[in-house]
Amino acid sequence: MVAALVPGGPKGKLITGVMPEFNRDSLAFMERCAREFGDVVRTRFLYLSAYFLFHPDHVEQVLVTNNRNFIKPRPFRAPFLQRLIGKGLLTSDGEFWRRQRRLAQPAFHRDRTSAYGETMVAYTERMLASWRDGETLDAHEELMRLTQDIVVRTLFNADVSAEQNEIVESLGVLARPFESQATLRWIADNRLPTAGHRRFHRAAARLDKILYRIIAERRASGEDRGDLLSMLLAARDEDGTRMTDRQLRDEVMTLFLAGHETTALALTWAWHLLAWNAEAETKLHAELETVLGGRTPTAGDMPRLPYCEWVVKESLRLYPPAYVVGREAVGDFEIGGYRVPAGAQVFMPTYVIQRDPRFYDEPSEFRPERWREETASRLPRYAYFPFGGGPRLCIGQAFAMMEAVLILATIAQKFRLRPAPGHRVEIRPALSLRPRDGVRVLLEKRAERHQSV
Ligand code: HEM
Repeated sequence: MVAALVPGGPKGKLITGVMPEFNRDSLAFMERCAREFGDVVRTRFLYLSAYFLFHPDHVEQVLVTNNRNFIKPRPFRAPFLQRLIGKGLLTSDGEFWRRQRRLAQPAFHRDRTSAYGETMVAYTERMLASWRDGETLDAHEELMRLTQDIVVRTLFNADVSAEQNEIVESLGVLARPFESQATLRWIADNRLPTAGHRRFHRAAARLDKILYRIIAERRASGEDRGDLLSMLLAARDEDGTRMTDRQLRDEVMTLFLAGHETTALALTWAWHLLAWNAEAETKLHAELETVLGGRTPTAGDMPRLPYCEWVVKESLRLYPPAYVVGREAVGDFEIGGYRVPAGAQVFMPTYVIQRDPRFYDEPSEFRPERWREETASRLPRYAYFPFGGGPRLCIGQAFAMMEAVLILATIAQKFRLRPAPGHRVEIRPALSLRPRDGVRVLLEKRAERHQSV
């Protein structure tokens, strides 16, 4: 038998490894790795050995075929993340995760999530009522606020109206340290009593107080309010056990965090792409005109809005909010003829794979039509994985797709979003793939004929 090879890769600096280069521009770093070293690349962040995988078949092996050999990567065990979402679905592993996933899954059943369609459209219309023709605004900021309102409402229904501002403010403070990871500042703030550390823990405590109050009140009333929290509260495992208050709190916080910024980003990038692609925008308008004819969309319209869905899918291809999916190997394994040892951090860069010319014609072009059944079905399965895959596939995928399509359809019937003169849109990869200084757009109201009645 031939011994598996050790893959090549950038060495970086003596102590920090490739951390400085990665922090400077993680997308350029990953693209360079793929270009110079091929499909399996070995490198190092400080003392952690890291492997980057750039082939869809390798992604499939890690996320699906061999998934039991992997747990979430080291950054998921950082004290900040543990304090914030504890052992929620995103961060937990093994049997504990499996049980939580079983309990949470029914809350995301399609029948249940389609009921949230009305909330999504109603909140979008409320936002549009404040938009003015000729006004310039930051689409990213607007969509963040919108998806935040939607997730709070779908999680808690009416429970938090009074505390909405406090929740949003605390979440802002809690999100701040995640703007940059893998820096010495991040490591220090996580472990030492710095000002950033204290601010973070104060905001977490404020949010905990609100969440535990809501959980206690709901337990006492036993009422099903039709929201995600009701489903989580009612969930029972086969042995009849339910989630503890602590588990509920961790899951609620996880859904809060995982459930709004990603969708806001998918929509922000979709609007950025549409603003520069008149042809795609015209096709989108034509579909909306035929299917909706100016009326408000509902969840039931989803199957009849394929172009709208392709726009979202294509935006998620070019700008996947979760631009890299990571794991830690539990045991040694072999991939593409290379040996990867236990304990290695394994990263699968969605952003690079989804732009690979081996799988996509003219990969940097925005072409919603490539998601037509006959072309899409020719792609290797894991050449596209904006929601991850295997048992840990995003639990909110259907929720997010519905939210993105309904918001897009509602806005597009009323406004065109033009690029704001003089504003340059740049990518800033942090915890997710954000725009550096927002996406400023000029609003152009569409003729009444296209608007909802
Ligand atoms: C466009 C929007 C979204 C994108 C791109 C996205 C992306 C992802 C990805 C890539 C993963 C897998 C991470 C991994 O394997 O390490 C994931 C997991 C997860 N997502 Fe999403 N997500 C989105 C929306 C949502 C929404 C709306 C919710 C909830 C309301 C949500 C909740 C979760 C949860 C709880 C997990 C962990 C699931 C588990 O491990 O069992 N996501 N998401």
